[in-house]
Amino acid sequence: MQETVALDSTTESTAATRTGKPARKHSEQSTSRAKQDTILSPRFYTTDFKAMDRFDVTPVREEWDALMAEFDLDTNREHFVRPEDFVDELQELSPELYEEFLEFLISSVTSEFSGCVLYSDTKKQSQNPDIKNLMGYMARDESRHAGFINHCLKDFGVGVDLGFLRREKKYKFFKPKFILYATYLSEKIGYARYIAIYRQLEANPEKRFHPIFRWFKQWCNDEFRHGDALALLMRSQPELLRGTNKLWIRFFLNAVYATMFVRDHQRPVFHAALGVDTTEYDMQVFDITSTISEQVFPFKIDHENPKFLQHLQKISHNIEKMNEASRQKGFAAKLTQISSAAGAGITFIKLYMLPVISNELPETVRLKPAW
Ligand SMILES: [Fe+2]
Ligand SMILES: [Fe+2]
Repeated sequence: MQETVALDSTTESTAATRTGKPARKHSEQSTSRAKQDTILSPRFYTTDFKAMDRFDVTPVREEWDALMAEFDLDTNREHFVRPEDFVDELQELSPELYEEFLEFLISSVTSEFSGCVLYSDTKKQSQNPDIKNLMGYMARDESRHAGFINHCLKDFGVGVDLGFLRREKKYKFFKPKFILYATYLSEKIGYARYIAIYRQLEANPEKRFHPIFRWFKQWCNDEFRHGDALALLMRSQPELLRGTNKLWIRFFLNAVYATMFVRDHQRPVFHAALGVDTTEYDMQVFDITSTISEQVFPFKIDHENPKFLQHLQKISHNIEKMNEASRQKGFAAKLTQISSAAGAGITFIKLYMLPVISNELPETVRLKPAW
């Protein structure tokens, strides 16, 4: 097993233009962007490691051991080694696309690194060999993912200082069960997002405006495995999927979907460059994630209910208005900010209240990444 968090925290790069061609520029701005804590930005988490250690995977032992053996094979060991000709594929990007793509990369590196930190912290604290093993494998993968994205940021001269981020970003405490719901969803949604982009560019290679997208297929298989492992952990503790916990699962499903929808709609130029309609892309991602989540959650969100999309659009519109008002001064702007925040909150409650589709859990948990 490879040791984790061997991340380069250099803040400078030899390239700083929209093409990634030589120049030197500090990257404090991208680090501070990654450090920002807004409702939408990826967060860093910590948990009750002792309680995490009490998870017992005996009920799913057979599937668990098979998955650990797969992790141990480390099929992506060479995948994240960057070839020397990587930079030859870099293209000149329009200022708007450059800005949104950069935001996409910074947000992605933050969430990859957030996973890396949480998994490696859990590994360090753990005495339970099953948990320790799993966390080590997942931290290994996330460390590679974050390092690879950061290398791409450094081509633009704006690498994020990951060491600084680890020390300075605020950590949010979540009970282990919430960590499981949130990380499971973020792993599976991550898979769905990466594979949807990969398939789109496979069919339309002329839209591939950056070489990083060629890495997404094997990359998302890592995320798929991570999600499967977290699904096994939840299935081994069935009480996490029953009673009032179902209300929490419903909350996390809606919160994760709404966050993704709002964030993606702030990147219209990025999606246009990929040749996708942002709403259609998001609905496709919800569809993949919902189908996959049948492996573990006792119900799924009815994303085909027209009200689901209407509510998401209203939340997105309100957040946009709130952000716009927050950049202005004066009483009227403050009022708009408050009323839009309230509007987004009320609509989120309506989204939460929409009926869900119940689901009978399959006997076998693991799935094939067949999308
Ligand atoms: Fe990852
Ligand atoms: Fe992951």
